[in-house]
Amino acid sequence: MNIDKILEEMTLEEKASLCSGEGFWHTKPIERLDIQKIMMSDGPHGLRKVNEERDCVTDESIEAVCFPTASALACSFDRDLIEKLGKALGDECQAEGVAVILGPGANIKRSPLCGRNFEYFSEDPYLSTEIASAYIKGVQSRGVGTSLKHFALNNQENRRMSISAEVDERTLREIYLASFEGAVKNAKPWAVMCSYNRVNGVYASENPKLLSDILRNEWGYKGLTVSDWGAVDNRVNGIKAGLDLEMPSSQGKNDKFIVEAVRLGKLYIKDVDKCVRRILELIDKYEDGKKSNVIWDKEKHHKLAAKIESECMVLLKNEDNILPLDRSKKIAFIGKFAESPRYQGGGSSHINSYKVTSALKAVKDICKVTYAEGYKIDEDKTDDKLLSEAVQAAKNCEIAVLFVGLPDLFESEGYDRSHLRLPECQLELIKKVREVNENTVVVLHNGSAVEMPFAEDVKGILEAYLGGQAVGQAEVDILFGKKNPCGKLAETFPRKLSDNPSYLNFPGESDRVRYQEGIFVGYRYYDKKEIEPLYPFGYGLSYTSFEYKNIDISKNEMNDDEEVTVTVTVKNTGKVKGKEIVQLYVSNEQSSVIRPIKELKGFEKVTLNPGEEKKIVFVLDKRSFAYYNTDISDWYTEYGKYNILVGASSRDIRLKTYIYVAPTNKIRVEYTLNSTGGDVMSTETGKELFKEFLKDVNAGINSGSDTSESDEQMTLAMYNELPLRAMVSFSDNENLTREKLSQLVRRLNIVINSDLF
Ligand code: BGC
Repeated sequence: MNIDKILEEMTLEEKASLCSGEGFWHTKPIERLDIQKIMMSDGPHGLRKVNEERDCVTDESIEAVCFPTASALACSFDRDLIEKLGKALGDECQAEGVAVILGPGANIKRSPLCGRNFEYFSEDPYLSTEIASAYIKGVQSRGVGTSLKHFALNNQENRRMSISAEVDERTLREIYLASFEGAVKNAKPWAVMCSYNRVNGVYASENPKLLSDILRNEWGYKGLTVSDWGAVDNRVNGIKAGLDLEMPSSQGKNDKFIVEAVRLGKLYIKDVDKCVRRILELIDKYEDGKKSNVIWDKEKHHKLAAKIESECMVLLKNEDNILPLDRSKKIAFIGKFAESPRYQGGGSSHINSYKVTSALKAVKDICKVTYAEGYKIDEDKTDDKLLSEAVQAAKNCEIAVLFVGLPDLFESEGYDRSHLRLPECQLELIKKVREVNENTVVVLHNGSAVEMPFAEDVKGILEAYLGGQAVGQAEVDILFGKKNPCGKLAETFPRKLSDNPSYLNFPGESDRVRYQEGIFVGYRYYDKKEIEPLYPFGYGLSYTSFEYKNIDISKNEMNDDEEVTVTVTVKNTGKVKGKEIVQLYVSNEQSSVIRPIKELKGFEKVTLNPGEEKKIVFVLDKRSFAYYNTDISDWYTEYGKYNILVGASSRDIRLKTYIYVAPTNKIRVEYTLNSTGGDVMSTETGKELFKEFLKDVNAGINSGSDTSESDEQMTLAMYNELPLRAMVSFSDNENLTREKLSQLVRRLNIVINSDLF
């Protein structure tokens, strides 16, 4: 496609019309110029391609394969696995004529109450952005696009189309944008979808700071920006801010505003052209890579869904090695989810699964189990008959496996949860079963953290999340030991909701939600506040055990433009093959700014046979040590000692080393008469100059040797909190004048900043 030529030939009306969709899922074709329409479909954990002819939002979609949802996927900590999933989805898109799949979602899990957490990866931006990158690379390797969403701060469903997420700059950068940044820079999604909400008062769909300044100018993004479906408020402001495509169609109404604004001189045509160019580039890219002969095999993808889920599930508890189950024992499967599992969430990501494998179905290939339904899904009310049948089944067996979790009504796109509890009828069932059988195992189906009042009482807990249509197969493979569990939590499970950092500020008041907890999201908060979570970030058990040894670092000092390599050896010390997720955290305990105790900066998943050991290599760069410095509006590494912690979870650090990192180019410091003695004494040079000054004017430190060390320390401590100007008014010392202090300030500004030049 000769885009320059097409742009020259297009009328203003044609340009404006291309800037919004046709119907729900397509861009507009322009036959006169041979511009084809392309189709976009949800996403993200399967293909939800709706009936193209009727092109309606609520229509039944094609039969497809529902893979595990994002909350499960992130627990794999496995870039290769997620890339494989991406490739499978890419093939489905190619075969079905879909140009862009609407995902992945990289929003941070700020609160476990967010109804859409099942579509998001993690509370940690590094893990989230790495998993998102792998997904994007996989899909796009097949010649179709992804649309990274929802940019940004769509961290709740409550008033999602109007709420303003009020967040300070450092938190925005270090947590919420960082979750997108790596994926944008490394994986280059074809599209980025803006969110519905406002960010610090400005709709994401017309937010120049997000859509242009940061996304394009800072991160170098070259692709398309698209609105979330119905997110546009003022289309003209959207074009100015850099929002290329409005979806779905606005029935031509917003196109007219664009034309009018250009005619009235309120909108530059060059801004419209930029949007049109990017839409044409995306169409061109798709047309270029379009393949007519791709077929996809549903059975193969179903098997892949089972394999992926078996690498995502997290074994939370395994007392007395109750798992893997001994198939020669009498086993009961109890709970409706054993027969009809909840395996995906409600809303735009809902897949029309061509089949579902329940645990009850999958177990038939392994052994005979008895089954009792236990509870109803559609209402949270104990059914006495079902409960007593379940208790009877539990009494008659040696091991009771309970399949429980959240029903659709409890969590979905479109609304948030109001608590973290399982349905009362299920809690009662667990309690009653446990009373009659001490060998009880709980298998959980939920999109986000739940409270577990039963955690102490049962012997085993397996977190399946919303594990896709083959979840039952994966569960049986893990329960009976065909597969060894190897997922770890991508989010903290609190003991109770009120432990969560956003608790006091979720979901906000009227149309404003303040992110008061700042950078202390997830484990960053639980660590700092020394709150014991139910299960910490990065935690998960295996049927084998691992030893961590020989940590090594390539140097103990580095400049911030260099890289450093950290290696550790991990050995499988158990009897079965297994995979371990090795996590690297960086910690700066002496920082002059408030920082988390530690932050995840690397992870690797390694497969080991019994007795086998492997060396794992992590590479860290400037960003691994930096914080976002709002004074210079950039990432900044402070000079200091950084601890490198390597472990099996955020609360299970096994090895430790350290490095001294030189600071990023020095920041210019501006002293004034309002600077305190402490500000001045924050550098060695400043302290020397200040002491010299105090001696000169005879203010608490004498020039002779008659000031004892403790007197000097007391004097300096007193000046610590005092603004320089106040030294004059608080003292009757005539040597201590405002003029002399002004001279000190001038000298400090020259000497302290001299290294900058
Ligand atoms: C959701 C998006 C989705 C879009 C299209 C919106 O309501 O927020 O995630 O891609 O609809 O279905």
